[in-house]
Amino acid sequence: MNRRKFITIAGGSIAIGAAAAYLLSDKHNLVRAAQDHQDSSKILLRPDEREILYLASLAPSGHNTQPWFVRYIEPYHWIIGNDKSRWLPAVDPTQRETILSIGTFLQNLEYAAGSLGYDCVFTLLAGSNQDENVMDVILRRTGKTSNPVIKKIQLRRTVRSNYLNNVLKEQDKIFLTAEDSGFIHYIPNTAKEHQWLNEQTIESNRIQAYREAAQTELANWIRFSSKDAAAHLDGLTLAGMEIEGIPGWYLRNFYGKEQVMKKSFREQSIDKVVKQVSQSAGWLLITSKDQSLISLLETGKRMQRLFLKIRERNIAIHPMTQILEEAATNQSLNRSIGINEPVQFILRTGYLKEYPKPVTLRRPVEGFLVR
Ligand SMILES: Cc1cc2nc3c(=O)[nH]c(=O)nc-3n(C[C@H](O)[C@H](O)[C@H](O)COP(=O)(O)O)c2cc1C
Repeated sequence: MNRRKFITIAGGSIAIGAAAAYLLSDKHNLVRAAQDHQDSSKILLRPDEREILYLASLAPSGHNTQPWFVRYIEPYHWIIGNDKSRWLPAVDPTQRETILSIGTFLQNLEYAAGSLGYDCVFTLLAGSNQDENVMDVILRRTGKTSNPVIKKIQLRRTVRSNYLNNVLKEQDKIFLTAEDSGFIHYIPNTAKEHQWLNEQTIESNRIQAYREAAQTELANWIRFSSKDAAAHLDGLTLAGMEIEGIPGWYLRNFYGKEQVMKKSFREQSIDKVVKQVSQSAGWLLITSKDQSLISLLETGKRMQRLFLKIRERNIAIHPMTQILEEAATNQSLNRSIGINEPVQFILRTGYLKEYPKPVTLRRPVEGFLVR
């Protein structure tokens, strides 16, 4: 065999090998549209019970931990619970965010039930953020279907990139804040408080990225490969973090928990935050009356009502909670932004040119239903 022929054959073999390796690799991000929701619950749920609980579970939660369970008492009578195995002790040691997330679940549940012709009778069971049984709920048939909010629940998502820098139009600001005025505060990107929030968001992310417990916790909730994502159906997937294309392929196939602990990963995450805060119409802050459990549940519900309203105006929100999670930045928050009430959510907001479809995964209803 002459040299040229050898090089041609060798080159061809490498190309075939590379193509085969690519074909066998993890090629696509697993997204919600590819999920199969036809679960066969061992407890025989009525179709509308299943529908309501599935829609409730499309609620947002910190690190997408989905920290809820539903105890089935009898048809149309459930207890909504707080799943301790899904807490985030490193960034949320008092379960403040867990309760906010359960609040978002309750709001979706109430809206979904209303849409299908049920009223909810809620009875608070929990006395603290740590109690397992949070809320008793009984659905009563009203026959009246209300507010067609189902589509909004299905289409809601957190968006993290490509925010425009235009400030919110006056009519949109009123649309978002009027109903809950006093609790929802808009800080436009022209305000000096906006600059403070940008800088402190970067600073708190830097602190957190180098806090070993927080970074380890994050590593445990990132689902790099599609196999891992499909096995858990929760957590932070690459699609959810908006990492697509070749970087997505590389991370899916070559990244795991160890890489999250490397300096390069921590620095890249901080760089991403710097870029994110440079794009926005400003910040939306949600405050509560106090820090009680009931106030946190109400605030979670309030956040979800806001979240379900924004898409029709092409507005996105991105919770960036690190200022609240890190003592060094949290302690000067109220003074620096001139708000007295406790801040529960810090949301970057902005208009989008194109609204992407939701992609984060959810456990099937059977995955969070207990008897
Ligand atoms: C209490 C709470 C805190 C959150 N904190 C953050 C955060 O700090 N950074 C972030 O990127 N997303 C944050 N999120 C958004 C979640 O990551 C997101 O809701 C989850 O991954 C599910 O995605 P989805 O909202 O698109 O359904 C938070 C959500 C909630 C409810």
